[in-house]
Amino acid sequence: MLIYLNGKYLDYSQALLPVDERGLQFADGVYEVALVWGGQFVDLDRHLERLERSAQAIELDLPFTRSEIRAVTEELLHRAEMKQAALYLQVTRGVAPRDHRFPAVVQPTVIAYLKDAPVDQGALQHGVKAITVPDLRWLRCDIKSVSLLPNVLARQQAANRGVREALQVRAGVGVTEGSATNIWMVHQGSIVTAPASNWILSGIVRGVVLELAQAEKMPVAERFASAEELMQMDEVFITSTTSFVMPIVEIDGRKVGDGEPGPVTMRLQELYLERLDQIAHATLG
Ligand code: PDD
Repeated sequence: MLIYLNGKYLDYSQALLPVDERGLQFADGVYEVALVWGGQFVDLDRHLERLERSAQAIELDLPFTRSEIRAVTEELLHRAEMKQAALYLQVTRGVAPRDHRFPAVVQPTVIAYLKDAPVDQGALQHGVKAITVPDLRWLRCDIKSVSLLPNVLARQQAANRGVREALQVRAGVGVTEGSATNIWMVHQGSIVTAPASNWILSGIVRGVVLELAQAEKMPVAERFASAEELMQMDEVFITSTTSFVMPIVEIDGRKVGDGEPGPVTMRLQELYLERLDQIAHATLG
């Protein structure tokens, strides 16, 4: 496995960081995950734009321009020759003696690599199960921070219960999102998704699916649903770079609707997959 680290392309075993790395010491960094489909990056510009916003929110000056980091990702893809993968791009504040305050002089750490990301066809077709958990995160979930401990704990609870995702419920707010996915619900043909706000990470796939739904004239309300409402929905699905549009067919041991993926979910999944194929083919020609 090839790792880009601070200007060098290294073998995995050579890509090492000091203990004083602030990503490790303080989770002081931001990241992105972008899809490679048919040998092409999908919506990389949207991901880089979000990375810029996350970095700005934590007062971190990215040590590269958009075209410079694009060149790095292209080089990684060229060398790895992967058709389908996930690009992980992490930027931390860098290496400095431990002190909570920002170091006066520091060079941010930049890490980029491609990881296998096989599509779970069975899950896309038949759906997956989820549980609800309390949302234990902070007040800036809109920042794609490498600080993921509450998300890790939520996802592990799901794994312990033998299900795919943990849907987080914020006291006083409602259902926010999954541990690494955005949430969507369908009631009597109308689509509901949590609004872009400080309570969720506004997903790139969320934005794309909103556009697809609008183009199909499907009604969408961006609002928080309560945990009680969630259990009454006809359809529930989640979206993310690596999950695409994934039906949820059971929550907390209870069937969603009739326990099968619903028509709105499957139509949006179809449109999303078509768009992925269009991107792969458009840039090939
Ligand atoms: N996760 N919400 C959270 C908390 C996430 O971590 C993610 C993405 C999403 C969906 O965002 P997008 O559509 O841009 O992938 C929502 C990525 C895939 C990850 O951390 O692996």
